[in-house]
Amino acid sequence: MEKQSIDTEFTIYSLTELSAIYQQLILKAQEQTQKAYAPYSHYAVGAAVLLENGEIFAGSNQENAAYPSGLCAERVALFYANAQYPEVPVKAIAVAASVNGDFAPTPVSPCGACRQVILETETRFTQPITLLLHGKEQIYMFDSITTLLPFSFTEASLKQ
Ligand code: THU
Repeated sequence: MEKQSIDTEFTIYSLTELSAIYQQLILKAQEQTQKAYAPYSHYAVGAAVLLENGEIFAGSNQENAAYPSGLCAERVALFYANAQYPEVPVKAIAVAASVNGDFAPTPVSPCGACRQVILETETRFTQPITLLLHGKEQIYMFDSITTLLPFSFTEASLKQ
C-alpha cells in the first residue's frame, strides 16, 4: 500500500492586483450575472471568456423547469465563443455569482461538467486556460483547469 497526495496551486488576488484585461474580464462576468435566467435557483452566474484575439464573449446560466435542460454560465459562454471563432484559442475565463443582487463572498467554483468542458477546450487548442473565480472578498486564479480536475478523462484516455 502506498498513500499519495496531489497539491492544487492557485493564487489569491484582490481585484486591483489583477492586470487590466483580467479586471475587465471579471467586471464582464459580474455584469453578466444580471442577465442570468435563474428563476428556480435564484443563483445568478456570469462567465466571460477571453479569446487569444482579444475578443470577449459572455454568458449567464439558463435554467429550465425541466432542471437538467438548463446550462451553466461557463458552458454558455464557452460554447458561444467557440461557435463564433472555432479556430481561436481561449485564453481565460472569469466566473462570478450573485444571490439576491449580492455577489457571493467566496469565489464561485465551477461544477464538474463545466470543468470537463473547460478541459476539452484546453485539449482542443493545446493551451492552458487561466481561470478567474470571483468572490466579493477575493479572487482565485488557477493557471489551468487541470489543477481543479485531477485524474481527468481526456482524448488520451480513449487511446489507451
Ligand atoms: N451554475 C453555473 O452557472 N455555474 C457554476 O459554476 C455553478 C452553478 C448554475 C447552474 C444553476 O442554474 C444554478 O447555478 C444553481 O446550481
